[in-house]
Amino acid sequence: MVKKGKFITLEGMDGAGKSTHIPAIIDQIKALGETVVCTREPGGTPLAEQLRAILLHQAMHAETETLLMFAARREHIEQVIAPAIARGDCVISDRFTDATYAYQAGAKAVPIAKINVLETWVQGDLQPDMTLLFDVPVAVSLERLALARTPDKFEREGADFFEKLRNAYLARAKQDPARFRIINGNQALAAVKEEVKVSIEEFFSTN
Ligand code: TYD
Repeated sequence: MVKKGKFITLEGMDGAGKSTHIPAIIDQIKALGETVVCTREPGGTPLAEQLRAILLHQAMHAETETLLMFAARREHIEQVIAPAIARGDCVISDRFTDATYAYQAGAKAVPIAKINVLETWVQGDLQPDMTLLFDVPVAVSLERLALARTPDKFEREGADFFEKLRNAYLARAKQDPARFRIINGNQALAAVKEEVKVSIEEFFSTN
């Protein structure tokens, strides 16, 4: 029987720096002999990428946004995540459902109970095995975004939105400490890299 693959997700506010670390994470996991599938949300399939373009650039009701996130996720799980896990591959997803709890529930006040229903519907019992949460103070995130390329809809939000977002992510991590590793993104890049590397080493040595 093929061993079940691992499912690792990366989370954090815009500007927390998670995307910078993806190439090194892929290399590290490949070096352990794993086949890596790297993907992202919203997106990861042709249809879900079309939904991403709408989600990132068009204003809409927060619940419409939640429903479209889960519609994209349904495709993504069906076409990419579930088959890869079944093959025994290691899936790395740049964001997953924790982002919906943080952005749509935490920052935009969509009731958590509604997200719970969609999560059960769309995911069944699929959950990440490990989530790296890149955490930085709001001021740092806003500073980085101000220097970055043209912002999308979420990246144009103000400090109050980002404060709620950060708190929601940290609250999720507190609820499930066995799954989450909080990475301190507010230090020199080499130190962040080392924290990420150690988290991955520890995960694979015990899973
Ligand atoms: P992001 O992952 O930051 O990509 P990039 O680095 O290209 O900007 O962009 C995705 C955006 O979508 C991000 O602002 C968070 C938002 N998002 C949600 O609001 N809810 C979700 O469930 C997901 C997956 C993402």
